[in-house]
Amino acid sequence: MIEDNYTDDTIVETLVKSFFKGSLPGFPEDFIKAMSWDKQERFLKQTIHSPLFKKYPGSLKLSRLFFKKLIEFLEPYQEVHDDIYKYLCSIMENDADKFSYRHYLIDNSLNSILTIKETKNMVLNGTTGLRTWEAAFMLSDWALSNKEVFANKSILELGAGVGFTGLTIAKHCNVKSVVMTDFHEEVLETLNSNVKINFLSSEVEQNIDSTFYKNDEKCIGVMKLDWNDTKNLPQNLSPDIIIGADIVYDPSIFQPLTTVFQHFHKKNKDVEIYIASVIRNAATFDGFLRNLEISNINHIELPLKQSEHIQWDENLVRCFLKINKD
Ligand SMILES: C[S@@+](CC[C@H](N)C(=O)[O-])C[C@H]1O[C@@H](n2cnc3c(N)ncnc32)[C@H](O)[C@@H]1O
Repeated sequence: MIEDNYTDDTIVETLVKSFFKGSLPGFPEDFIKAMSWDKQERFLKQTIHSPLFKKYPGSLKLSRLFFKKLIEFLEPYQEVHDDIYKYLCSIMENDADKFSYRHYLIDNSLNSILTIKETKNMVLNGTTGLRTWEAAFMLSDWALSNKEVFANKSILELGAGVGFTGLTIAKHCNVKSVVMTDFHEEVLETLNSNVKINFLSSEVEQNIDSTFYKNDEKCIGVMKLDWNDTKNLPQNLSPDIIIGADIVYDPSIFQPLTTVFQHFHKKNKDVEIYIASVIRNAATFDGFLRNLEISNINHIELPLKQSEHIQWDENLVRCFLKINKD
C-alpha cells in the first residue's frame, strides 16, 4: 500500500528530487494513483515554478524527457495538470540548449542545492572545462566525508572547470578560502557566474587575472592559472591544500603540472595535494605516476569506495591520490 511507504509530503518530495536529479524512475502504480492534481501543483511549485528554476532554468532536453515520461505515467490514472502540458509545449519548440543550469542536491537535500551553469557536451568551444566531470563528484564527496581535512585551510583548485568541487568545499567545509583556477577564458567566465549564483559576497575585488568574492566568513577566488605558463605562477599564494579533479589525461601537461606542484611546495613545504581521476587509459595514468616518481614526489592512493553525500558512478575505474613532496 502506498500509505505504508509515502506520506503526502514525501510523494511530492520524491518527485521533486527526481526532477532535480534529471531522471524519472519507474514508480509503482499506487504512487502514480496518489499524484492528485493538488500534489502535481505542489510539485510544479517546487520545480518549474520555483524562483530558483525560473531564474536558472535547467536543461530543456532533460526537462522534455522528464515531462514526457511523467505525462505517460500520469495519464492512465490522473487528470494531468494543465501547466504540465503547457510547460512541455513551451519547451518543445526551443532547442538552444548548449548551456543550462543544473541543480545538484548535496546530501540528497532540497535545502542544499548547488546551481551550476554548464553544458552537457563533453567538449564545447574547444574545451572540456564547461561541464562537471565524475571525478569532481568523487573529490567533492570525499571532501564532505573528511571535512576536518579542510577546516580553516586555504584551498587552491587546479583546472576547476565550472567549479562544482571548489564551490561544494567552499559551501560545506569550514575553509578559510578557496581559489579556483583554470586557463580557458570562457571557463573562467562561467566559473565567475557560478560563484555569483551560489555565494553571497559583501565585497568583490577585481584584478586583471583574478576576482575575489568575500564575506564575513570566507573568501572565494577565481584566478587564471595556466600550468604551461610556469614563469607566471602566482607568487603571492601559499595554499595549505591543492585539489584537482580530472586534470590528469594529457601526457603533454604531466611535467608542467609537476612543476606547479613543486612551485607550491616551495611556498609551503606542508602543502597537501589531492587529485581525483577517472582512468580512461591505464598507460597514460601510469605515465603521470612515473613523472611524479622521477621528480621525487611521493604519492599514496586513498580509498574511494562508494558515494556518500554526492552521487558518482561507482563502476568507473578511478584513482584518488594524495601527493606530497617528502
Ligand atoms: C576534464 S576538465 C575537468 C574540470 C573539472 N575539474 C571537473 O572535474 O569537472 C579539465 C580542466 O582542466 C583545465 N586545463 C587544461 N589544461 C590546462 C592548463 N594548461 N592550465 C590550467 N588549466 C587547464 C581545462 O580548462 C578544464 O577546465
